[in-house]
Amino acid sequence: MSKRVRKAVLPVAGMGTRVLPGAKTTPKNLLNVVDRPILSYVVEEARAAGIEHIVFIVGRGQGAIEDYFDASPEIEAALEAKGKADILADVRRDLMQPGQMSFIRQMAPLGLGHAIWCARDVIGDEPFAVMLPDMLMAAEPGGLGQAVAAYDKVGGNIVVVEPAPQGETDRYGIVALGQKGALGQKGGDGRDGRLNRMTGMVEKPPLGTEPSNLFISGRYILQPEIFEILATQPRGAGGEIQLTDGMATLMTRQDFHALEYDGTTYDCGDKIGLLRANVAFALRRPDLADEARTAIKALLQGQ
Ligand code: UTP
Repeated sequence: MSKRVRKAVLPVAGMGTRVLPGAKTTPKNLLNVVDRPILSYVVEEARAAGIEHIVFIVGRGQGAIEDYFDASPEIEAALEAKGKADILADVRRDLMQPGQMSFIRQMAPLGLGHAIWCARDVIGDEPFAVMLPDMLMAAEPGGLGQAVAAYDKVGGNIVVVEPAPQGETDRYGIVALGQKGALGQKGGDGRDGRLNRMTGMVEKPPLGTEPSNLFISGRYILQPEIFEILATQPRGAGGEIQLTDGMATLMTRQDFHALEYDGTTYDCGDKIGLLRANVAFALRRPDLADEARTAIKALLQGQ
């Protein structure tokens, strides 16, 4: 029986270059999608997956993230006095219990692998989730919930993937899948619909050389042995300590499965991705969908 996944690491210490200048004074993951910060959706997805402790990897100038997830007595008292119970409930919705969130300074943005390594003492010796908060997932159950269900089935390490748009595999980290070797038992064909044994990963393969069309979409379940690998790992592509390099080493010792999840991902670290997320999430909201549709149609007709 595999150990339960109780903790999730959310690295948010990157520069957010692609959404500057907005991300200059507001951490990019606090930018809004409709009326909530991106992080609100991702933390909600983590909690729905049974995560009990969130570990943020933060950089300088990101204190607003801690404040967002803390109580706000003045705002709450004012809403209470005005009888605005619905807004009050909405404001309180993201709050976890004291002690269920940790904030770790990365001190220098040396890469995603380095960011994850910074969580080693808080994670300890248990499997854990990694969620790249820029990647907002519209899915039911949530993306991480689907990964946890896959982990409960096969254990080991899980990487959530999805098909890349036609002709765009050279922009992503792409997985290679096993043809032989079982899913959960030896001797099978290594394929089980959307959950397949992984044999490798390649960053941005030139078109025509990609081992599959499935890209790594920002949710992982990893075993704690990744930390000792990351501790001594040399810098890789872009001079950064890459998580994919660490996973490739771990894959020589442990099982990895790729889960093709059921849902849609929006890359909110990118201007158009953030715009698409805003439109899509507004259209999904029962209280806003009609008005949003009318406003979008009017804008398009006005062109
Ligand atoms: P990205 O490369 O997508 O984010 O990293 P970024 O660096 O903020 O974006 P650009 O390229 O400058 O626009 C994926 C996630 O990993 C975090 C980022 O904050 C993002 O959530 N990250 C990346 C760190 O926490 N530390 C790092 O050293 C690098």
